[in-house]
Amino acid sequence: MTGTASSLAPARMEGNGAYNRNSCVQEAGSAPAVPLFEQAARLAVLPAPPQPIVIADYGSSQGHNSFDPMAAAIRALRERTNPDQAISIVHTDLPSSDFSALFQALATDPQSYLRIDPTTFASAVGRTFYEQILPSAGVALGWCSWAVQWLSRAPAPILDQVQVAYSKDAAVRDQYSRQVANDWRTFLHHRGRELRLGGRLIILTMALTPDGDFGYRPILEAMYAALLQLVNEDFLSAAEVHRMAIPTVARSLSDLEAPFSDGRFADLAIDHAEVFLGQDLIWDAFERNGDARAFDARWAAFSRASVLPTLARDLDRGGADTRAGEFLDRVEAEMAARLAAAPEKVVIPLGLVVLRKD
Ligand SMILES: C[S@@+](CC[C@H](N)C(=O)[O-])C[C@H]1O[C@@H](n2cnc3c(N)ncnc32)[C@H](O)[C@@H]1O
Repeated sequence: MTGTASSLAPARMEGNGAYNRNSCVQEAGSAPAVPLFEQAARLAVLPAPPQPIVIADYGSSQGHNSFDPMAAAIRALRERTNPDQAISIVHTDLPSSDFSALFQALATDPQSYLRIDPTTFASAVGRTFYEQILPSAGVALGWCSWAVQWLSRAPAPILDQVQVAYSKDAAVRDQYSRQVANDWRTFLHHRGRELRLGGRLIILTMALTPDGDFGYRPILEAMYAALLQLVNEDFLSAAEVHRMAIPTVARSLSDLEAPFSDGRFADLAIDHAEVFLGQDLIWDAFERNGDARAFDARWAAFSRASVLPTLARDLDRGGADTRAGEFLDRVEAEMAARLAAAPEKVVIPLGLVVLRKD
């Protein structure tokens, strides 16, 4: 039996603030990028007052994980600017994203940067970042964490997994490789237009280790086994599972650098690029307390909040399928049971790129 890959953009993260509550892995992974964002705020060429300083947060989801980096940038900017010069922070995400949760978090999260600076203003844009979404030459600083690994579309069904990195189908892997290379150029092209001269853009994304490892193996194996189990239990059809694909692709350091082979691309140049391993906070907690149930529950909740809504969209009747809620619950529970059987540290490869426009 064959499936048809969804040609849509990815679905949003799980709503009602669930992503904010279940994204400590992403928050920890981004931590090494924060000092670089702070440094970028010290170096970026700023507009003269009374023009506002625009910071764009591309792929913000529900906001919580952006609060620390934004606060670090605001503090660094305030060492250079008059306190009256407005800072405008624009969070961007897909139109379907849970923007209500973002605005709630801005108002109530103790880490919200709105608490530290009265002349900082937050707003949001609901459009794909594979287009130009902000005025040309207006952005002084850009931040994009854990977002640009999401492709603009899933180019093909993946019949033997839901994550292409673990598929054995060379032709499918090739289609995803071409898509990720094109999407990277498209993303950079539009950011190159949006950045001001002297502006800086920090990108943190899923990466491949130098020996080509995508990481997350136990999580993805548990997820795929959970889906097959639900086929055995007649909750899902095989055709539904064949349609399901997580449209994320990790890039190697050379993939990240490829558009810049002549030194510049889209008026941007690389200041810094590296691949490193993110901290597995969930494993660290397990090593401290030996609580396997907490370990499996946290990784299953991470998966639910980040990728299961995208898979649910490929149920026969899409997101409106009456099984959508039960699908999330059952995959999460199946994954948790499998992960508890053999907790192991998860490899989290991340790429970090600092770009400047000059
Ligand atoms: C894993 S979350 C990352 C959220 C946050 N930046 C963080 O570091 O935790 C990825 C976000 O990227 C968004 N995203 C994916 N594709 C996008 C696109 N084409 N345009 C804008 N946002 C996109 C998703 O909707 C999601 O909110």
